[in-house]
Amino acid sequence: MRVGILGSGLMGGKLGTLFARAGHEVVFSYARSVEKLKKLAKDAKGNARAGTPREAARDADALLLAVHWSRIDGVLSEAGDLSGKAIVTCSLPMNTDDTGLLIGQTSSGAEALAKKVPKARVVCAFNTIPSEVLFGVYEARRRTKRPSLVYCGDDARSKKVAAELIGDVGFDPVDAGPLRIARYSEPFALLMAQLAYEGSEGPELAYRFERFGE
Ligand SMILES: NC(=O)c1ccc[n+]([C@@H]2O[C@H](COP(=O)([O-])OP(=O)(O)OC[C@H]3O[C@@H](n4cnc5c(N)ncnc54)[C@H](OP(=O)(O)O)[C@@H]3O)[C@@H](O)[C@H]2O)c1
Repeated sequence: MRVGILGSGLMGGKLGTLFARAGHEVVFSYARSVEKLKKLAKDAKGNARAGTPREAARDADALLLAVHWSRIDGVLSEAGDLSGKAIVTCSLPMNTDDTGLLIGQTSSGAEALAKKVPKARVVCAFNTIPSEVLFGVYEARRRTKRPSLVYCGDDARSKKVAAELIGDVGFDPVDAGPLRIARYSEPFALLMAQLAYEGSEGPELAYRFERFGE
């Protein structure tokens, strides 16, 4: 697939690198320097290049949105018309000092995003995983017991795209249902961050869901 990265920081930089290594064509965009984007593309050692958000969005099969919540409107306006695009968002609706969620319980960042781009097809994924685990999960991707990663959305076609990308990075994609389920997965992401950064095990933390009963 052709994957546009909107926000090439900790999440966008790592996921874009892994998408490129998994064989996708990647355009890194939206950082404070073009040199950083070019270096990311070079170091990805796959089919990757640097571009503007508009170039990243053009002809993209999927877009990864990975900016701080305060940058969402800015990056969307730079990306231009996103009608029909599958947008996989890992952006959490955090306040400026990252101490709490701005939206919760009766809505979610993913649903607020979908309202901003009503003609796009939003999937919420990758936000429940600390960026530090991504390369390790990719390295271990051939293991039979892969860590889980939840995703949710209202559009079947874009969910299929997201599930493929999740699998390519080394996770077992777990369909959590419609986009409104992001109301529960976004706070869950903060629990994962709490366990990763405040717990005794350090940030190398991924999770696995197992079904019990019949
Ligand atoms: N980090 C994690 O482990 C993690 C896990 C789950 C979810 N998330 C969520 O994912 C989203 C992205 O997080 P992140 O940690 O990847 O953030 P980040 O490292 O700060 O990356 C954000 C990107 O936006 C760029 N940017 C910021 N201001 C800009 C501006 N004025 N002009 C152009 N580019 C600008 C940054 O540029 P520079 O590269 O030049 O700084 C960076 O590339 C957030 O919503 C976060 O809550 C993060």
